[in-house]
Amino acid sequence: MSGKDEYYNRAKQEGYRARSAYKLKQLDETTGLLGQGRTVVDLGAAPGGWLQVAAETVGPDGTVVGVDRQRIDDLEDPDATVEYVRGDMTDESTKEEIRERVGADGEELPVDAVVSDMAPNMTGEYDLDHARSVHLARQAFEVALDVLGAGGDFAVKVFDGRDLDDLEDEIDEEFEYVRRVRPDASRESSSELYLVAKGRLTAPVREGDELEVTIDDVGSEGDGVAKVDGFTLFVDGVEEGETVDVRVGDVKPNFAFAEPLE
Ligand SMILES: C[S@@+](CC[C@H](N)C(=O)[O-])C[C@H]1O[C@@H](n2cnc3c(N)ncnc32)[C@H](O)[C@@H]1O
Repeated sequence: MSGKDEYYNRAKQEGYRARSAYKLKQLDETTGLLGQGRTVVDLGAAPGGWLQVAAETVGPDGTVVGVDRQRIDDLEDPDATVEYVRGDMTDESTKEEIRERVGADGEELPVDAVVSDMAPNMTGEYDLDHARSVHLARQAFEVALDVLGAGGDFAVKVFDGRDLDDLEDEIDEEFEYVRRVRPDASRESSSELYLVAKGRLTAPVREGDELEVTIDDVGSEGDGVAKVDGFTLFVDGVEEGETVDVRVGDVKPNFAFAEPLE
């Protein structure tokens, strides 16, 4: 038996519906996606291995919404609130149902993590399977942007290939950072990996933006504080009441830094 088949046996022994449960455990261990009380959307959730892991980890104050085009049997006695959505993620109506279930309406963004293990039916043709997996990953990304609150996290399975860099760059624009993770539980022969993006940015500014702001206040560290649509910008070396042109530097989920332009 190869080392990787251990996961199949462990899943049987430990009562997980799929060996892939260990991939989510390992993603969570290395990147901290789940956590007590979190609200998690799990895309491509059938038969329910990831759902079991997510429900155990978010616990009684957490909620997990599992989505798949195939039927998912209800989890037995889950630790968390678990909801099920049956639908195809390439249909707009499925995305709409997810938004409704979690109560995301553009203002309220109540989800802490979106995870996707969706995979296309494999043809064996490397480029085609890659392209179809990127297409599915983009559907997941769209949902993540619709429901994730500031600071929320996103993990998505994708098969390696030529469009991976572009997808990663697009995701990176919307999060603090993104990294590639290959869990040990993935089969060695598989070209699958997960893009894990941490810290959803909902800020109205991005690094490099130039804009005029008015300094409303000076914080305890001596930085000027300006608001852009309610979002906090810390500006170095300015006085209260000044109106200055600034360039935005590092952007975090709940604030950003900016420097006055010369
Ligand atoms: C590898 S399995 C997921 C295993 C799951 N994470 C678990 O631990 O039990 C991939 C799933 O993606 C689902 N899937 C693929 N394309 C989909 C689509 N367009 N919409 C919804 N689900 C899809 C498949 O039905 C399948 O159940």
